[in-house]
Amino acid sequence: MITETKKLKSSDYIEKEGCYGAHNYHPLPVVLERGEGVYVWDVEGNRYYDFLAAYSAVNQGHCHPKIVKAMIDQVQKLALTSRAFYNNVLGEWEEYMHQLFGYDKMLPMNSGAEADETALKLCRKWAYKVKGIPHNQAKIVVCNGNFHGRTITIISMSSDPDAYSGYGPFTPGFIKIPYNDLNELETVLSDPTVAGFLIEPIQAEAGVYVPEDGYLKKAWELCKKYNVLFIADEVQTGLARTGKMLACDYEGVRPDILVLGKAISGGLLPVSCVLANDEIMLCIKPGEHGSTYGGNPVAARVAIAALDVIVNENLVDNSYKMGEIFRKEMRNIKSPWIEDVRGKGLLNAVSIKSPNGKVAWDLCLAMKEQGVLAKPTHQHIIRFTPPLVINEEQLLDAVERIQKAFKAFE
Ligand SMILES: Cc1ncc(COP(=O)(O)O)c(C=O)c1O
Repeated sequence: MITETKKLKSSDYIEKEGCYGAHNYHPLPVVLERGEGVYVWDVEGNRYYDFLAAYSAVNQGHCHPKIVKAMIDQVQKLALTSRAFYNNVLGEWEEYMHQLFGYDKMLPMNSGAEADETALKLCRKWAYKVKGIPHNQAKIVVCNGNFHGRTITIISMSSDPDAYSGYGPFTPGFIKIPYNDLNELETVLSDPTVAGFLIEPIQAEAGVYVPEDGYLKKAWELCKKYNVLFIADEVQTGLARTGKMLACDYEGVRPDILVLGKAISGGLLPVSCVLANDEIMLCIKPGEHGSTYGGNPVAARVAIAALDVIVNENLVDNSYKMGEIFRKEMRNIKSPWIEDVRGKGLLNAVSIKSPNGKVAWDLCLAMKEQGVLAKPTHQHIIRFTPPLVINEEQLLDAVERIQKAFKAFE
């Protein structure tokens, strides 16, 4: 039998996914097959700047050689033990996290959503065991516009109909308040059955909404006043993305529970974790929570390598500096479509004057033609989050291409 090996085109791959895959995403029509640093290549060999970086999971750049090597070395030795047994890498990663972030303990998971679920469970346990809230009455305060993932409990906290519609009944025990509103926060925190306040220091998925200066600090102080845990979801904002190691660092806020994910593996595999001190973390006892893959040796080795890259390559400073340049350059673009340019470090967004969302999508298609990949969020906002290894020359080249795409629209 002769097997015909025909080179598939982008449209063939797109058709295949449309035919056999669930339709839960609406990707930009580009089919990628290779990545290196800030660049990705499609199956036709065209090169693009990746200005999404897998929703900030690829902070260290695509296929960073040190992280890839750590993964290959470990996967050839031992990949998965489950937590039924010890492995000789997890403890090393936990110690590394202790040294880097200063928390007593770490609990490893896989996806960001799982880590957020873990934080919610931890908070509820603490509420009953330490704060003394009557059984099953603990509440957690969240903000409108939040994005913490896609599980039933997490969408129960969402204010976005696309996220929750058609998925009820919902998990009770959440109070939703406006983001960036301290008066409302104090009103709800004074309820003695409130155990935690879960917040993204910058609402990334919502469209990169940066709260007013001082908000996080005052919110943290209010949490202390009412003995409520301040839980920071830094799955997207953490690990140098905003120009500090954590976005909370801008205000010297130390969360009681810190949730990390995405870039903790440099984009190689799903790794996430929750950090807290003993008083909180030790509320969960053996058998009460876990995950088969959480804390596996490959994840642990990759996480150490990925964090080493952030520290050794000064990605915090680079993200801060490149972010300043990016916003300045983008604000110089005179386009009738640009409403607002905002962000911190290399977590940025441009609001597009586009009532039906078409313009933002079409602009992303035009940017693709110029060799820059970005994706709209919430119809009228385009997020710009390149890998943090981008240098000034690459950044300016990318901005020039973005500018050309915007010009093509006038
Ligand atoms: C702040 C935040 N939390 C949680 C998540 C969920 O992470 P995952 O998709 O890995 O479950 C995301 C994903 O974008 C996020 O931005």
